[in-house]
Order: sequence, then C-alpha cells, then structure tokens
Amino acid sequence: MRFARKTLHINGADRTFIYNPDKDSLADVLRRLGLTGAKIGCNKGLCGACTVILNGEPVRSCVKKMKKVDDYAEVLTVEGIGNPLNPHPIQWAFANYGAIQCGFCTPGFVVSAYALLQQNPDPTREEVRDWFQKHHNICRCTGYKQITDAVMAAAKICRGDATIEEMKRYDENDEDLYGKPVVRPYAIAKACGVVDYGDDVELKMPAETLHVALVQPKITHHAKIKKIDFSEAEDVPGLVKFVTYKDCKGTNRLDPFIPHARCTCQEATNVILCEDRIMYFGDVVALAVADTKEHAREAAAKVKVEIEELPAYLDFPSAAAKDAMRIIEDTDNVYCLQPVHKGDSWNVPKMIDEAEYSVEGSFYSSREPHLSIEGDTIQTYYDEDDTICVQCKSQGLYGNMYNVSVITGQPLEKLRMIMNPTGASFGWSMWPGDYALCVMATMATGMPCALSMTWEEHQAYSGKRCPAHTNARLAADKDGKFIATEFECGLDHGRIWDLGDDLTTRPARFMLFPYYVPNALGMCKVANTNHSFGIAYRGYGSPQIYTAGEALVDMMAEKIGMDPFEIRWRNIAREGQTNINSFPYKHYPMEDMMKVMKPIYDKAVEDAKKYDTPEKRRGVGLAWGGYNVTEGPFDACEVKVGINPDGTFTKYDTWQELGQGGDIGSLTVTYEALKPYGVKWDQIKLVQNDTGQAPDHGFSASSRSHFMNGQATKKAVDALFEARKKDDGTYMTYDEMVEAGIPTEYNGSFATEEYGNLSYLDPNTGQGDPTPSYTYGLFCAEVEVDTATGKATCIGYHSVDDVGNIGNLDAVNSQAYGGLAHTISFALTENYDDVKKHANMIGAGVDQIKDIPDNFTLHHMDHPREEGPWGSSGASEAFQSSGHMAVINAINNACGVRIYELPATKDKIKAGLDKLAAGEKITPPEKYDLGDFMAELEYCRDNPKENQ
Ligand code: FES
Ligand code: FES
Repeated sequence: MRFARKTLHINGADRTFIYNPDKDSLADVLRRLGLTGAKIGCNKGLCGACTVILNGEPVRSCVKKMKKVDDYAEVLTVEGIGNPLNPHPIQWAFANYGAIQCGFCTPGFVVSAYALLQQNPDPTREEVRDWFQKHHNICRCTGYKQITDAVMAAAKICRGDATIEEMKRYDENDEDLYGKPVVRPYAIAKACGVVDYGDDVELKMPAETLHVALVQPKITHHAKIKKIDFSEAEDVPGLVKFVTYKDCKGTNRLDPFIPHARCTCQEATNVILCEDRIMYFGDVVALAVADTKEHAREAAAKVKVEIEELPAYLDFPSAAAKDAMRIIEDTDNVYCLQPVHKGDSWNVPKMIDEAEYSVEGSFYSSREPHLSIEGDTIQTYYDEDDTICVQCKSQGLYGNMYNVSVITGQPLEKLRMIMNPTGASFGWSMWPGDYALCVMATMATGMPCALSMTWEEHQAYSGKRCPAHTNARLAADKDGKFIATEFECGLDHGRIWDLGDDLTTRPARFMLFPYYVPNALGMCKVANTNHSFGIAYRGYGSPQIYTAGEALVDMMAEKIGMDPFEIRWRNIAREGQTNINSFPYKHYPMEDMMKVMKPIYDKAVEDAKKYDTPEKRRGVGLAWGGYNVTEGPFDACEVKVGINPDGTFTKYDTWQELGQGGDIGSLTVTYEALKPYGVKWDQIKLVQNDTGQAPDHGFSASSRSHFMNGQATKKAVDALFEARKKDDGTYMTYDEMVEAGIPTEYNGSFATEEYGNLSYLDPNTGQGDPTPSYTYGLFCAEVEVDTATGKATCIGYHSVDDVGNIGNLDAVNSQAYGGLAHTISFALTENYDDVKKHANMIGAGVDQIKDIPDNFTLHHMDHPREEGPWGSSGASEAFQSSGHMAVINAINNACGVRIYELPATKDKIKAGLDKLAAGEKITPPEKYDLGDFMAELEYCRDNPKENQ
C-alpha cells in the first residue's frame, strides 16, 4: 500500500496530512483532521450533508477524491464560518428561524448558503431554492421553508439591512415564553458543526474499539440457509470473529408486546440474527468483527451463503392467498382481525346498494421509507461496572433496553442505553434489533464495538411504513350526507409480526375521521410477508386508511356534482356526533377549521382556473386528517426534577430527541411548571436520554411526549416544592434540605389511567375510546400537472390545524412543515416496494427543495385543551396523516386522473391522461382479493374475544 502527503489551506491555516490516494475522499481527510462538521449521510454525492467550500465553490466532499484536490487548495468548512461563541449570521439565522430539527443536514446547508451569499448577497427566495436544488442539499426534517426563511434573514443581516437584534422573533426576557419560538438548546452548536453525531462519536472511540460489519447477503426475500461459508473471509487481516446466532446468549427473538386478543401469533417468533432462514431482503446472517471498519466490511463481503429459495410473498394479497405457505410456522399469514361495527352495521351492504349515491374503489397505500439523512450507527462497550453501554438513536430507550436484554441475554440491570445526538428517525429507531446486534458483538468479544451501516445497508435492513390494500365503499343520501361505509383493509407487516396486531386498530379508528358516518362495517387485518417489517412512522397506521377514505369523499362529491369543500362541510362531525368507534369526538373544532380554510381554498380554486392551460393543468385538493395523542389507556411517563447546590434546577427524563424537539419540549414544560415558583428559564438544566441517569419517559411516539411529560413534570415540580416548603411559606435552600435530611430530587409520574374512562377498541366490534386527546388537520394542495410528461408538482400547500395550545411555535411549525413535506413526496414519489430501484435516497423518492412549495402556509387554531398540560395536546402526527390525499385529490381535480395506487408517478398520470385522450374511462383497480370479508366478520361475531 502506498500513501501520499498533502497540504491544504483549511479555515485559514495550512494543514498537512498523509492520505491513501486510492481511497480517501476530501471528507475522509477532513473528518480525520477533526473537522466532523462535514457529515456523512449517503456517502454517494446525493444529500449534501458533507458540503464544504473548495476554492470558492461548494463541493460534496464525500465524492471529491483527495488525489484530485490540488496541494494548497483553499478549503472552508462549517467550523471556519463561525463558532458557538461567535456564530456567523447564517448560523444564527438557522438556529433562530426554526431551520434546524435534527441538524444533521445543517452544516451542509450553512456552508452552501455561505457560498451562495458570497456570490449573490441579495438573492430572491426562488434563487435560494434553485441554489440548494443545484447543490443537492437535502433536508428530510424541515420541509425547507424555514431554511429559505433563515437564508433570507441572514442575507439581510449580512448586507447590513438589519441587525440581529432587529431580526429576533421573541424577547428572551419575556416571562411568558409558552408558545414562543424559543431557540432549541443545541441549535447553535448544530449550526456550527460541533455536535457529535453517532459516526463522529465512533471516530473518537478508544483505539481498542472493534468494528462490526453486517453479513447481509441481499440475495433473496425468502430462503432456507443451507450453509454459511466463512472460509475465504477468515483470512482477512484484522478479523477478530464472526458472530452468528450460535453466539447469542439470549432468545435471539423479540419479546412481543401484549398481543391483540385476536392475534394468532402469541409466541416470540421474531428472530433477530438469522438462524435457518432468511425472511426478507435486508436480513442479517452474521456479523464480521474486526480491528477496522474496512477489514470488517472486507470480511463480511467474502462470506458465502448457500440457500434454497422459498416462495416469497411480497404483499398482503399474495400472503393471504389460500395456497400461500406459512411464513411463520405456528400461524396463518393473516394473523389478526379487527372488525368495526357501528350503527346498523350488518345492514351496511344493503344500505350502500340501495343508497341515492354510492362510490367504491380499491386503493393501495405504498411502503413508505423514512429516509433520514443519517443512517444507523451504534457503539457498545463494557463500562467500569461491567454494564454494557449502548450509544444509539433509540426512540424508546427503556422499551428497547428491555428487548435488547431478552434478545442478547445481557441482564437488564447490566445494560445502559444512551442516545447519541441523532440525524432523525421518524419512527425506524423504535426497533431494538440493531442495538442487540452490536451488544452481541461486544458480548462475544468483550471489547468496545462500533456498528455503522452504510446508508444502503440500513435502507435494506430497517423497517418501513406498512403498505395497505383497501377495498371500500361509501353511501350518501340525496343531500350528500354520509349514510354508511364498508371497508376491508389488509396491512402488510413484513417479516416481523410484533405490533402488526396493534396496527390493525389504527385504520379501524381513522377511517373517515373526523366525519360523522352513522353506520359502518369494516374489517382491518394484517399479514406476515417477506418484505421489510412494519415499524413506527409519524401518523402510524392512519395514512393507509386516509388513502381510501379521502379518495371516497372526493369521488362522492364528483358523483353528486358537489364541490369537495361543500361535501366535507356537510359531513364533518358536529357537537355530540360520534366517530367510527361509536364514541363522541373529543373536540369539535371542525367547523372553525373549515371557516379558516374557506378563503384559502376559494383563492386556490380561482388561481387554478386562471392559470390552467392545456399544457399545464392546475387543480386543488382537500383532505381531512387527524391523529390520537398518547399510546392509549395504559400509557405512562416518569420524570425527575431536582434542586442543585447553586439554586438552579435539573430535569431528568428520556424524552428522546430525534429532531422533533425533545430538548426544547422538555425545557418548555419544566419552565412552565417552575414559573409559578419564580424560577427563570436560565436556571433550568436538562439531563436527558440516558437510562443510567433519567427515569422512563416512554417512547417518543404517538404525539404523546408533550402531553405526558408535561403532566409528569408538573407533579415532580410540585412534589419538590412541597418538600421544600417551610412553615412561613418560603422554601428551603439545597443546603437546608440536605441538612434536614430531605431528598433534593423528586420523581413525577403520569398515566392515562388517571382519566379513568379510556378503553382499548373492542376486538369484536371496534368500539372504544382509547385515547384522552386528538389533534386535527385540514389540508389543501395546489397542483400543476404537465400533460406532456404526466409529472405532477405541488405548487402550493396550506394547513389548518388544531393541536391545542402551542408550547413552542417553531417545534410545532417544524412538525407541520416537515410532516406535510413527507406527505407530498409520499403522494408523488416515495416508495420501497422495489428493493433494488429504491435502494438509495433519490431512488426511494426523497423530497428535494423544489419538490416542496414555498407557497406553504400554516394556520394554527390553538383551541386550549382541558385534558392537557397548559391547554396543550400533542403536535406531530396529524401532519402526516392524510396530507398526501390533498395532493392526490388535486391531481384528479387538475386533469381528471384519479390515482388509486400510490405513489402518483408521472408514468401513472401520463397513462391516465392517454386513456382519457383515447376516450376511455379511468376505473379503480380490480377489487383486491383480501380474503372473505363477510365470512371473517361472521367468524369474529361467532367467536367473541375479550381484550387482553
Ligand atoms: S453527499 Fe456526501 S454524504 Fe451525502
Ligand atoms: S434538520 Fe435537515 S435532515 Fe434533519
């Protein structure tokens, strides 16, 4: 091997280094020099996370070969632009304008924006957007609007047209900070590139650290493993060990959550490290553990796996077919049924047949990949107490720790889970399997281990939003009022059954939410398949059924000849009217929300008419959505608050921060709880996301965190101040408490059981009231369709929401812009059905800045919630519930092409346009064969079950 020496002028200083000319990129060298602000996301030149300025031009340093960079070239990295003590206006603006969520993309954007403003100090918004599109800067969190806002604000400051003081959006001395856009605690550090994410932590691990590579054959969706041949791989220098399931000291299986009463999988059958079978394309058969990452990967690549192919079932209908083999031996592939009965349910088919108006269709909601820019990266090591520490991006540290213990056999009390700063997840990091793999490597070697998957390995390995096939019908009376609905929804949960049973309750709750439909007959069911397993994703389990419901509403309007707004106005639930589960809605903000939307919708319709041309058809679409808050009747959260010797306060929790605002959320609720006692914002410290230090907040999921943590925090603060109280009404200092032998830290717990009247859905009828609160969203999309190519572009998007009182404005705005941006790309491009075509970010349809409109408006209703802390509810998942259907409905409105099967690619739209041009009709796909709808309903009636 031969090496070279070079000097670059980096951030104003000459830096000399040795590099491998056959291998090293500019990013490799910069990161070795400690300049880890250049992040590695895709490592393929697709995402811009590694952007630096080379001789005045932005470059993606991961694909810039070091040997092609001239000696003494000028390099500017994010660290050279500013630092937390002296940030550049661009860095200040990103932090202060809500442009940072996970922050993983941020250094790349900051550097790119710096290059732009050097060349064009006074850009228009569109020029900013064009620049980021041209330079491949991708952000998966923000929906881009706040990034453009930040660059415009920074440009103004840089030109001298405004001062930072003038550009502030709130007064930090204001006591009333609830609802203000208070800056997140780590935002400036992220903007300056000095926050260590997982791969940065890995670079700084001790020299003894071993590296783990997946043996992930990616050769089949389903096969028996006949032989794994390690012989060639064993000669790779530096190889320490191959770890297989035989090395696992635990069950090597997930311990499932309490299954649904109708779940036919009751055993822990979900294998983590393959034993005798490969169950899906991304399965892992062994781990190569070596002294370097390169050696580990080289060894993994040399392993040969001999297989015997088995039939592969890659969607619900094929897995549910009568002749399909069992994927998990002890159960039929369709493993859980959740019926829905409302009103005169058994007469629903007849009602629909005889109704004045009825519509029907079959709809496919596709397999949605999360597409976080950062992939998966984990470090594990034994600490001084023989505890294995797991540094990772878990979205539920305690829940995952329990499963890691079961899977690996490492005693629970000898595990500690700690979050690294994370480059987002949106749900995939609820999965414990990857953490267990790294723990297995440390258990097998006794050494610190680091596992950093390539982006593509992670894409193949990780869970996805379950796809769903739905057959559905809707009936209305002569006035367009809904009478009845019938629906059958088959969810594909991939190779892992755990939680798929619970997932069936989501379509059963969000079909035609938040309308009033007096009669309903439905069946929601789930199957094992040989595709990627189902996992959490914002809006969990609801987009699938909105795909059917919000299409039917528009189809009904079309059939009657009624405006899509009017049909929604007539059918939204009014005070006291019940949801699909036969319980009243928790709130009735629907009329108010529609009143806010009306002028926005009317203007969009007017514009669509004005600008519609035969070449560029314009249309407008609406969709109602919403989601639950909390995990249901038995949700619980615990936090701890203590006073410090200097009179400040520390809050301890595991409100996992993945970019959604777990840090600012926790600070906000703690400040609000402490404010009545005269405590100031800067007197509060946070210790978060370390099971060794903080109690169990529960998962960062189900829009539950603000709601649950807020109430638990109030209790902890009140307990602390009750304990400190003196007879004269003043409070003891820390020293006085210690002297009096009174604890200085107090836990606060809150459980939804305290509401007393919540219930899981009945497994026989689908009736029930599982959650104390909901959020609501009404969405309007403006779309342009290019009739020559079929390409649809979303050119305007508007959201009216009710999430209760807002705790932090930018955190809610970020969830709204970010979640809705995902819905736009879910409608148009995202997919993970084809494991080869969709293997990278661009192939899988990630949204780039020009895919998301800048004409993007949010309208918060802020109706205070009696049931939540400080009038708040949750604020996340409504924004990724039904928003995609506003786009799909707008496409239909623009050009008459209804897309029944997501995503609405240009080829599908073009094929529809060609059909229309030929005088043919566009019809739904043939009704999906999902099983025997009536027979299954009768079976559930005749075999009642009780909730477990
Ligand atoms: S472009 Fe370099 S990491 Fe994605
Ligand atoms: S903030 Fe841009 S990827 Fe997370």
